[in-house]
Amino acid sequence: MKVITVVGARPQFVKAAAVRRAIEAYNKHASHPRRRRSKKAFQEVLVHTGQHYDYAMDGVFFEELQLPKPDYHLGVGSGSHAKQTALMLERIETLLQKEKPDAVLVYGDTNSTLAGALTAAKLNIPVAHVEAGLRSFNRVMPEETNRLLTDHLSTFLFCPTQQSVQNLTKEGIKNGKEKVVKRVGDVMYDSILHYSTLADKKSTILNDLGLFLPHRSFTPNAERRTPNYYLATLHRAENTDDPKRLRSILAALDEIGKESPVVLPLHPRTKKMITTYGLQLREERIRWIDPVSYLDMITLSKHARVILTDSGGVQKEAYWLRVPCVTLREETEWVETVESGCNVLVGADRKKIVEAVHSREGKKLPKKGVKLFGDGKASERIVQTLSDLFD
Ligand code: UD1
Repeated sequence: MKVITVVGARPQFVKAAAVRRAIEAYNKHASHPRRRRSKKAFQEVLVHTGQHYDYAMDGVFFEELQLPKPDYHLGVGSGSHAKQTALMLERIETLLQKEKPDAVLVYGDTNSTLAGALTAAKLNIPVAHVEAGLRSFNRVMPEETNRLLTDHLSTFLFCPTQQSVQNLTKEGIKNGKEKVVKRVGDVMYDSILHYSTLADKKSTILNDLGLFLPHRSFTPNAERRTPNYYLATLHRAENTDDPKRLRSILAALDEIGKESPVVLPLHPRTKKMITTYGLQLREERIRWIDPVSYLDMITLSKHARVILTDSGGVQKEAYWLRVPCVTLREETEWVETVESGCNVLVGADRKKIVEAVHSREGKKLPKKGVKLFGDGKASERIVQTLSDLFD
């Protein structure tokens, strides 16, 4: 079968790489000479919309995740939501008409996700949505619109959690004749299991940024040095594009940074808004750096005292890496991380953020829920399901 994978933004490269590995494994197995009935191989055509284009947001991920050069690069770049999505629709339509795939595979909730799903649906090509059924129930978020529409346009809905299956059921999207709804687990969990050891071996970011406590004379062994920093990420429009919220969050980071530096890999949008609003960062407290690669992000997350974030993916990574998380939003799609006691929602209030960080650090985290996000084989299940349906 022929699938077209549409990606465009940073987290989608991580998710698509996990499924691509599963496709490669499937093809190897399918063509094995000892198989009695030969299975049809998967042909994957990789389409990059160009939503993210800076090397630090794009190229470095392709290199680390060993993704091949995209078969199509649509060069859409930045713009308003309508303009960005419209350009994608137009360019994706041309290539779908040429390639005539059996299905189009889309990931998550970005404008690239919606564009891939909508174009395919209009051409009557089945859409497979990976990370289906997530809801924040906040319609102001552009991602919520993208998720809702993509799910309703999709034929194959691959859900990461039980909650996501329930969300779809409530909207009338059920497994049956018209749709395949399947809880497969989280492909980002597959990915972190795969890359965590590699990150330990390869990433030098803690040393590069000097994030260890100063040497004591009786512990000269570098291996035993203790990392000492907080990690923050910030990129949601509701935080970056509202000067009050942005100022308040940065004030909280500044206060926390009195104790240990807050490492802040800065999304280009956030960097732009900090300049636009004329906000100043005290670098001895907030160590802002360029966006980091996937392996460096795993390493930074693993050793942080606490993670502060408004990203969905980072909340889950904190949960998997057993690091307390403070989420700079009022709601989350990943309710399991909060219910388990590993994550807390604080919004953008300076006082609440500081209090949450102080009350959480050093505390033992509650036990990790059994397979809440699957067993690390979500990608394999996705490929197997598609193969069973199309073979
Ligand atoms: C997008 C997704 C968001 C996802 C995030 C991951 C949507 C609506 N949002 O948000 O769900 O969590 O990706 O990072 O699709 N920019 C650059 N260089 C780049 C990319 C962006 O400078 O390589 C700047 C541009 O000024 C651009 C702004 O960042 O206008 C926002 O980029 P955009 O792709 O529109 O959305 P993200 O904030 O990255």
